[in-house]
Amino acid sequence: MQFPQGFLWGTATASFQIEGYTQADGRGESIWDRYCATPGKIVNGDTGDPACESYVRYPEDIALMQELGLNAYRFSLAWPRIIPDGDGAINPRGLDYYSRLVDALLEAGIRPFATLYHWDLPQALMDRGGWGNRATIDAFARYAEAAVSHLGDRVKDWMTFNEPWCVSFIGHYIGRHAPGLQDHRLAIQVSHNLHVAHGRGMQIIRQCSPGGRGGIVLNMEASYPMMDTEADHRAAELNHQQFNRWFLDPVVGRGYPPAAWESYQGELPDVEPGDMELIDQGLDFLGLNYYSRKVLHDPSGGEGPILHRRDENNVTVRDWEIYPQGMYDLLAWLHRDYPEIPEIYITENGMARDDVVGADGQVHDPERIEFLKQHFAAAHAAIQDGVPVRGYFVWSLMDNFEWAFGTSSRFGVTYTDFETQQRIVKDSGRWYAQVARANAIPD
Ligand code: FCB
Repeated sequence: MQFPQGFLWGTATASFQIEGYTQADGRGESIWDRYCATPGKIVNGDTGDPACESYVRYPEDIALMQELGLNAYRFSLAWPRIIPDGDGAINPRGLDYYSRLVDALLEAGIRPFATLYHWDLPQALMDRGGWGNRATIDAFARYAEAAVSHLGDRVKDWMTFNEPWCVSFIGHYIGRHAPGLQDHRLAIQVSHNLHVAHGRGMQIIRQCSPGGRGGIVLNMEASYPMMDTEADHRAAELNHQQFNRWFLDPVVGRGYPPAAWESYQGELPDVEPGDMELIDQGLDFLGLNYYSRKVLHDPSGGEGPILHRRDENNVTVRDWEIYPQGMYDLLAWLHRDYPEIPEIYITENGMARDDVVGADGQVHDPERIEFLKQHFAAAHAAIQDGVPVRGYFVWSLMDNFEWAFGTSSRFGVTYTDFETQQRIVKDSGRWYAQVARANAIPD
């Protein structure tokens, strides 16, 4: 299975998950530092320190990418390194770090894809209401301008937000991510405010990075009815609208999807005049993060609770069902229904596993190889069917700080020993190197 010429093979990471050194060089506090410091929030009380110490070990990490034969890297910038208190003075040492990282990547022949916001909001802005406060949109625009004008001569591929569904709903309703709030109406308002901030970000990317391209990264969940009943079809469609289309439709000028909008009656977001136009900047590309699917069942024929069912025998240690067909189905849907999206990247895909270093000093993770192989094949099939998928970023380069799961949830194609910071390429990493080098899935 050969991929098109010029296809990008990379890995993805995020600042808070890998950098460590949370006190270094004037970095400000982020909502994730605060959340981690709250007892009981993170498995084993882990924090963003040391994570993978990539703040100082990035040359090693880039050497690792070269060893794996990768030609692209998706990472994120930490807003609190660049503007420590969110909207005050710009910290040149924060910008310098990313400048050195970008230069080293380019030197190594690795194309940088930078995400502006992968969840580490400056705590000072949270103290003033965070994403629920529209002033944060202005602060984001200022931060984006500082970052993109400093790096945009070298970084040409920019993403505004990573997974706004998670930011809104896990952070402000489910409460399992920073800032840990549980307010459904607020979560919906936050989602709208993030959309507006995305629109501002797109304008800034296009203004401040000559020849630069902008996009957004959405986590999408393929949604299926459990039974072939009208109620189950409706339940699947509602999940699809709330989870997928709520975040995609506005950014391509289609407004909020009707069934989702209707379902939020009584909690609808405040939309100011001009917001929908500002949100609609079009996309130069869409980043799709794909991990799993959801199967929906509404037992009451429309009135009762909606159940989420999955194949319990085919899940990862995180309990996410392994379902590569869902990636194909989402790609085919995007291609069919959204011809205005010119390019798609798989910006994250991967699996957690309880990896251990064996007696031979190696990490044998055959399930991850199988997982990646099946998902690469799904992307390949979509490409064969004309979907413009241009690259694939495996989550993740190495085991890192996996949010509420701390370092207990290992997603890397490289193993991280968090005591010594030694990195050990897993079997899946070696297999991935063959894929990247051949630009094909080996038989
Ligand atoms: C995604 C996040 C990423 C990582 C993976 C496992 O939701 O974007 O940071 O935690 O899940």
